[in-house]
Amino acid sequence: MAPAPIEIDHLTKRFGDVVAVDDASFQIEEGEIFGFLGPNGAGKSTTIRCLLDLIRPTSGSCRVLGLDSRKDAVEIRRHLGFLPSDLAMYPNLTGRQTLEFLAHLRGGVDWAWVDELSERLDADLSRRVAEYSSGNRQKVGIIQAFMNRPRVAVLDEPITGLDPLVQLEFHTMLREHAAAGNTVFLSSHTLSEVERVTDRVAFIRRGRLVAVESMDELRDKAVRRLRLEFAAPVPAADFLAVPGVHEASADGLVVTVQYEGSMAPLLRAATDREVLSVESGSLDLDEMFLEFYRDEVGEDVLAEEASEEERAAGRGSR
Ligand SMILES: Nc1ncnc2c1ncn2[C@@H]1O[C@H](COP(=O)(O)OP(=O)(O)OP(=O)(O)O)[C@@H](O)[C@H]1O
Ligand SMILES: [Mg+2]
Repeated sequence: MAPAPIEIDHLTKRFGDVVAVDDASFQIEEGEIFGFLGPNGAGKSTTIRCLLDLIRPTSGSCRVLGLDSRKDAVEIRRHLGFLPSDLAMYPNLTGRQTLEFLAHLRGGVDWAWVDELSERLDADLSRRVAEYSSGNRQKVGIIQAFMNRPRVAVLDEPITGLDPLVQLEFHTMLREHAAAGNTVFLSSHTLSEVERVTDRVAFIRRGRLVAVESMDELRDKAVRRLRLEFAAPVPAADFLAVPGVHEASADGLVVTVQYEGSMAPLLRAATDREVLSVESGSLDLDEMFLEFYRDEVGEDVLAEEASEEERAAGRGSR
């Protein structure tokens, strides 16, 4: 069997006392779009930099298409497209000159394909980099990542700065690329992006992988919400005993219930009274992840992380 296109094996990276990545292991399969999610400073870019041999792991290893990230870095580059989170470009070159410069380093670029990419992303390659808006710079970054039709694309926060229409087109491109048997690994802060386009997702926090799940599994686990309006006030407590119900709250004539599994017992309990309206919806997955955070480490982890980041920024530790 062919090796998985991306394999991260017990990867650890320390910067002094900071453990940026702590014993992370996962694999990404051929044809898969895989999302890497986590808050600021979680260790996403560090993992990606180790994968690309831009920095050396403290321990553990990474493989791309079965090749060792460190020993076979040159061979890997031939099959790889990479969008860094901080792509440096020469301000005086135009978008096209930038791509020509990068193509010269890499080889194997089909310019008709580059034109197609830039048309689809609505990128104007005739302007100088210095004149680009941040979204337009990002488009040049995406085009350079895909211009050699890479078997493996590694994209660090690709949709940063892209407007919603361009995001949609970009996600369609990713799906086509994966459907052709290629592999995509992308990082993001927002589950809503990852939800739209990825097959599986790894969630990282403070260097540790806290979950690796398929989007389908995540959706099944999502707690659902039902909003019931009654002709007369009903105590929320009446619903707490119903199987599958996690939470219930009443506000005037409206009872809002969070539950998992089948809706049937809840509806049976509701129709004992006169129901005026019923509205059903899933909990947003982002909200679910916040729930997941709280379960893991207590209520204040996000606030705590934010203030740690601020302290670190104040010390100028980067
Ligand atoms: N070159 C470096 N020297 C020292 N510490 C570093 C270095 N690079 C990253 N770190 C630290 O490693 C941790 C992980 O950083 P990393 O850039 O991987 O996070 P990230 O998940 O990509 O965050 P963001 O969403 O903000 O891009 C942070 O605590 C960061 O300060
Ligand atoms: Mg990053």
